[in-house]
Amino acid sequence: MHPQVTMDVERALEVLRNGGLVAIPTETVYGLAADASNAAAVRRIFAVKARPVDHPLIVHIAAADQMPRWCDDVPVPALLLADACWPGPLTVLIPRAAHVLAEVTGDRATVGLRVPAHPLTNELLTRFGGGLAAPSANRFGRVSPTTAAHVVDDLGHDVDLILDGGPCPVGVESTIVDCTVRPPQVLRPGGIPSEQIALLLDQALAAPSGTSRAPGMLESHYAPRCRVVLAETAADADTIAADLDAAGAAGANGATVIGDGVELVDYARNLYRWLREADEAGHKTVVAVVPPASGLGHAIRDRLLKASAGPGRDG
Ligand code: TXA
Ligand code: MG
Repeated sequence: MHPQVTMDVERALEVLRNGGLVAIPTETVYGLAADASNAAAVRRIFAVKARPVDHPLIVHIAAADQMPRWCDDVPVPALLLADACWPGPLTVLIPRAAHVLAEVTGDRATVGLRVPAHPLTNELLTRFGGGLAAPSANRFGRVSPTTAAHVVDDLGHDVDLILDGGPCPVGVESTIVDCTVRPPQVLRPGGIPSEQIALLLDQALAAPSGTSRAPGMLESHYAPRCRVVLAETAADADTIAADLDAAGAAGANGATVIGDGVELVDYARNLYRWLREADEAGHKTVVAVVPPASGLGHAIRDRLLKASAGPGRDG
């Protein structure tokens, strides 16, 4: 076991209070957390991830009643969504209070807030008292980690402590809703389906546009080393994989198919693990059956699309 992997919340608190970095379990993916009020600690997140400094970080808080500490006038849609979805896989973008560090917001006028749903991290946040700035705990542009072992693989000793909360049950990142515009926009589909957001707000949502669209939301992201090819049906996937294998184009270990006949919840929970395992097994190509565009399917499709736009870093 990696020496810094622990379930000890007290040790995690100590590291965070001293300006260190702790990988934290959440219901979506593991985050790389620092005290959101400590500029030097937050800057280290960017250094460790090799992340461009204009990509803002989500601030994780213990409960919705802390929202006014981060925003002087919380928009009503954000209050409604927080009330209905927290703790849970939802991030709201709201106007930031003056004290919120530019290091956290990428010098934007907004801050992203979320109350994650994981017992260890909720205890940590409650005892910490403040906010924890945390992006996903992977190197920039790579697949997010859904187990403590993934974090060790990605970040090794660059993280001071890893709080091990087991595998993440949701498996894809939070849904990001920009509540500073009317109607609100879903900037990133995630663990809470867009249909549910629209129902809760009782209005149709707008397509993402305008200033809140963060840098990095569009380009290739969530990329494994292997190439990801998309298929509309399981039969198509098998044909594509067989053709690649026959042509010797999928590498020595051939192509592997994911998502064939899998429930959406299981697809989301396992997607990143499957992509990592395909890399480890030496597959040069993953053929992914694209799920329907509803519910969790939105988030899975989004991640698959971004993974398929990746360069295929092995070759
Ligand atoms: O489920 C999640 O959201 C995970 C866990 C750890 O909470 N976090 C996560 O963080 O996915 P990250 O940094 O990998 O992705 C957050 C996205 C980035 O694309 C960032 O640009 C965007 O949210 N974002 C954060 N704050 C923003 C802001 N104020 N304005 C626009 N975009 C923002
Ligand atoms: Mg990320």
